[in-house]
Amino acid sequence: MNNRLKKILDLISPSAFCLDIGCDHALLDIELVKRGNKKVIASDNKEGPLSKALENIKKAKLEDKITLTLKDGLASYQEGVDTVIISGMGGLQILKILKEKKEVLKKIDTLILSPNNYVPLVRKEVSKLGFSITDEYLIQEKNIIYTILKFEKGKKKLSKQDILLGPVLRKRQDKIFIEQLEREKRGREVLLKMLPKSLWQKRRQTKKELKWIIEEQKRSQRKK
Ligand SMILES: C[S@@+](CC[C@H](N)C(=O)[O-])C[C@H]1O[C@@H](n2cnc3c(N)ncnc32)[C@H](O)[C@@H]1O
Repeated sequence: MNNRLKKILDLISPSAFCLDIGCDHALLDIELVKRGNKKVIASDNKEGPLSKALENIKKAKLEDKITLTLKDGLASYQEGVDTVIISGMGGLQILKILKEKKEVLKKIDTLILSPNNYVPLVRKEVSKLGFSITDEYLIQEKNIIYTILKFEKGKKKLSKQDILLGPVLRKRQDKIFIEQLEREKRGREVLLKMLPKSLWQKRRQTKKELKWIIEEQKRSQRKK
């Protein structure tokens, strides 16, 4: 397993009944069972990934502990599941899966999400669905930084800065967060040079975000 999947594993309670949507190879699910989770549902909406998953599960001799299902999104939910994992998909796809079945979300305590993009939008929209961020991490794999979000049932107000940069990341101020701030700043500076004046709304939003990032950098400096 790569570091991203290892961190996801760390964030899940050993007593959780997990549903992994978009399991692909099911490596995470195999590790979940090996370290003590009694039951796991691994689901994917494509046959190719599922046959790879079946091969891996058979090799690990865990066919009796991991249920494989070929279903779309939360259609694979089974009574008793308390934790849903969706990782390695686009943020919009993750939000679509969650919003399509709000009635199922009522029965879920914990969501572990690792969107490949649109992270601020995921923070904002999932918070509106009755969950709040209780933990989050940035994990670097080669040149890419992935965000892993843990949501639990409950309400907590998020500021615009929290939505953009992450409420827990802002508190923890890890080295990787400080590096990410610099990358986010540079990205917006380049974008502002390229955006035509006619896209004034996008320019205005980018300037606002740049200001928040610089303020966060100053806050980090003061905390040192
Ligand atoms: C890039 S893989 C991620 C695998 C693994 N979760 C990880 O984080 O490494 C994404 C997987 O999601 C599956 N997928 C995409 N949309 C889905 C949906 N709506 N329902 C179930 N699975 C889906 C794809 O078939 C693919 O196997």
